[in-house]
Amino acid sequence: PHLSGDGKIAVVHNGIIENYVELRDFLISNGYKFISDTDTEVVSQLVSFYYAECGNALEAVFRVLRRIEGAYALGILCVDEPEHFIAARKDAPLLIGYGEGSNYIASDVTAIIKHTRDVSYMEDGEVAVISADKVQFYNAMEQTIEKEHHTIDWDVSAAEKGGYAHFMLKEIMEQPRALRSALAPRLRDGLVDFGAELGSALPERLGSVVITACGSAYYAGCVGKLAIERLCRVPVTAELASELRYSDPLIGEDTLVIALSQSGETADTLAAVRECRSRGAKVLAIVNAEGSSLTKLADAVLYTRAGPEIAVASTKGYTTQVAVLTALAAELARRLGRLTEPELRELAAGLYRLPDAVQKAIDLNPGLPELARRYCLGGALYYIGRGTDRAVALEAALKMKEISYRHAEAYAAGELKHGTIALVEEGTSVVALCCRTELLGKMISSIEEVKARGAKVLAVAPAGERRILAAADDVITVPRTGPLLDPVAEIVPLQLLAYYAARELGCDIDKPKNLAKSVTVE
Ligand code: F6R
Repeated sequence: PHLSGDGKIAVVHNGIIENYVELRDFLISNGYKFISDTDTEVVSQLVSFYYAECGNALEAVFRVLRRIEGAYALGILCVDEPEHFIAARKDAPLLIGYGEGSNYIASDVTAIIKHTRDVSYMEDGEVAVISADKVQFYNAMEQTIEKEHHTIDWDVSAAEKGGYAHFMLKEIMEQPRALRSALAPRLRDGLVDFGAELGSALPERLGSVVITACGSAYYAGCVGKLAIERLCRVPVTAELASELRYSDPLIGEDTLVIALSQSGETADTLAAVRECRSRGAKVLAIVNAEGSSLTKLADAVLYTRAGPEIAVASTKGYTTQVAVLTALAAELARRLGRLTEPELRELAAGLYRLPDAVQKAIDLNPGLPELARRYCLGGALYYIGRGTDRAVALEAALKMKEISYRHAEAYAAGELKHGTIALVEEGTSVVALCCRTELLGKMISSIEEVKARGAKVLAVAPAGERRILAAADDVITVPRTGPLLDPVAEIVPLQLLAYYAARELGCDIDKPKNLAKSVTVE
């Protein structure tokens, strides 16, 4: 916590106060001295300034909130009022947990699940005064309000490692179960059926689809784009949220915007969604975290039901996003009349089989720790693929980068010869994703090109694909699940490859350096 100069006020803060320099100058001109350059210290000193004026911590906080700009989840304690503390939120996650004889604030439910499952989600502009046995809420107009209680329905063990060395490994292994819970409610009588889940999110005439997200969620969107375009024959673009919001996008009332986010709190994604809504678009959110900010902005929400994802690197968050997006593609195709009933049944059958296929993708590859040692510990690492394989390559390279700090890049295999092949030399590692059967010949040519320059090639291919066995140095085997579902089974061994590389390199796997689980600032 940051203390005010007089030691009376303590503040914890998640977010960024944008006008802190101006406020700092104001306080300095009033005789305040600072011991850090942080925006948070400015909040503690400003509360202290107003507390000196009015002698009431809540009133002082209200005055501060009228002056600060930016994003914040704040917890504020005043030494003269030890029986309670104050919380405030704007554009950063904050929830209240109700315990027995104790109450809590947290940015994420995983922090307090050991103590309580009874929570209220704070909204922008709201303030709460929390004592051991009572919580009083105020809205942005400073009027008292009542808040709804929500019960967190997952088990405490979901927030524990359960015998695994890392949360990431546990979450990788949990994927069959997570996929079952993501898909089961959307499969009925051998067909994909979202029932009333899409609510009012579909435009009357579907002109185009824009998928927006950041990081792994964006890469899930890249897979989803291919699935929706292929099944629905409507134009789909996948846009990074941080780019979309500043791109004066061609979005209107006939655009369906699909926003993907595990946390539902990613600042760039929220901002992109607000921008799209201001242009009249409908927004469908695909989210894991219940009660998160994105769920409140969207016209309808599809929960991925993956359970809490605690490791910073997304695994089950990503695969459940891809699975729900693919099921959504089938649902939209059915509504648009683009597919025959047998085609729809075949797709649904693939979705039913997906959790088992993911388990197989894990079981088929006990040699991954050894492959990680041979391919991932030194030199450059390139991931190549075409179509959905290329989209998966992007995610696989991101996994490797973020947890092992190894330099890994993904390329469309056909692009190699347009530049990147210049970087391939003796000993370069190339991971070639080869699940697109119709493009196998092309992938084999790419493998030969890089091998001719000295690269060693680790391929990912469906079981029994002899031509790949002959062309590559080593093969990670994945079960065949069908062109639209392969990405889900295919990424899982590559998540494990990154995990084992990071373990070998002694990295802090669950909390990689410089990264946060929810990126609540732009
Ligand atoms: C990668 C990763 C990040 C997130 C990104 C978006 O493993 O975790 O790239 O995918 O920050 O986060 P959400 O899905 O919470 O919006």
